[in-house]
Amino acid sequence: MKRKVLGMVLTVSMVAAALVGCGGGDAAPAATSEPAAEAPAAEAEAPAEEAEAPAADAAAPTGKKVGVSMPTKDLQRWNQDGSNMQAELEAAGYEVDLQYASNQEETQVSQIENMINSGCSVLVVAAIEANSLSTVLENAKSAGIPVIAYDRLIMNTDAVAYYATFDNYKVGVTQGQYIVDALDLDNAEGPFNMEVTAGDPGDNNAPFFYNGAMDTLQPYIDAGKIVIPSGQVDFATVGTPKWATETAQSRMENILSSNYADGTKLDICLCSNDSTSLGVQNALAANYTGDYPIVTGQDCDIANVKNMIAGKQSMSVFKDTRTLASQVVKMVGQILNGEEVEVNDTTTYDNGTGVIPSYLCEPVFADANNYKELLIDSGYYTEADLQ
Ligand code: BGC
Repeated sequence: MKRKVLGMVLTVSMVAAALVGCGGGDAAPAATSEPAAEAPAAEAEAPAEEAEAPAADAAAPTGKKVGVSMPTKDLQRWNQDGSNMQAELEAAGYEVDLQYASNQEETQVSQIENMINSGCSVLVVAAIEANSLSTVLENAKSAGIPVIAYDRLIMNTDAVAYYATFDNYKVGVTQGQYIVDALDLDNAEGPFNMEVTAGDPGDNNAPFFYNGAMDTLQPYIDAGKIVIPSGQVDFATVGTPKWATETAQSRMENILSSNYADGTKLDICLCSNDSTSLGVQNALAANYTGDYPIVTGQDCDIANVKNMIAGKQSMSVFKDTRTLASQVVKMVGQILNGEEVEVNDTTTYDNGTGVIPSYLCEPVFADANNYKELLIDSGYYTEADLQ
């Protein structure tokens, strides 16, 4: 396959430039720093833990610069991803251009354009919107700059060489299986009332989370053990643009007032991640007085771990961003050294131009019983972070 020997891309970059040409004539103005408009949200608390920089095994990459394009500082996880990547890349000897794009697609495009123009050797990109980067990444390809899609697959461009993420489908399965076990759905009669809150339709991960959970729960829906009083269940209806807490909250408030104000019991809130879960929890606090439902999440953000401890969220899925960052730094070294790049999945993630060789890290179930071991003993958070 065309991505098998990436080293070739580097050595024949000039040929590639001649063949491919520049897709985007109107290069956006360069943005060199964090846009002033972006204010980290209250929940984006910085964890005490700083990445301890395990050195990558690559040979010293003197003078190489790596561009790291992150979506937003609003959500805690991207702050951690960015700082872990920066610390590990610097410890491995790279110069780093780390940019956050305030969840603005045009800002991300211009930041990437600037990374290309300023001589980055590799780009690591967590896309805001899966389909919005084709043109700018064609420019990267023309310049012979390999692109690693970070956490979120970038769609419909053959400029993406590799993808590193967590097993997104498994995240959803973990949420669904938790619900099956917590309600003993194989034995219980039900019916249990469920409402679903999914992720950003512009994020390729979101349907994976949704499908993993819904595939696990579908047999129980078919058997009438789970019902969805709002009737809102298909992905297009339950999605949350930009994963916004406020959007998830107002949608849930409407669902609660239309379907549960008469005292109907809500048993399950399936939420794809922690930011949407937080919105649902806010809506429950303000608009629901019945027995508290099961509420799922993903990421183990500090606000959500606190809520797990307080009983407002039942579980989360821990995706150790240190692991992902280490893997990506390793990939960067392997690419730049012309070595074989370590991947563990060559079937799942087709971005519309073919399957992108991927490395999937393991997501881990988390709840109030195991968070100490997972999050504190591992040094991810301190006790103080969670108070
Ligand atoms: C990530 C999740 C995150 C969500 C919102 C997804 O692409 O995989 O971990 O919760 O984006 O930022």
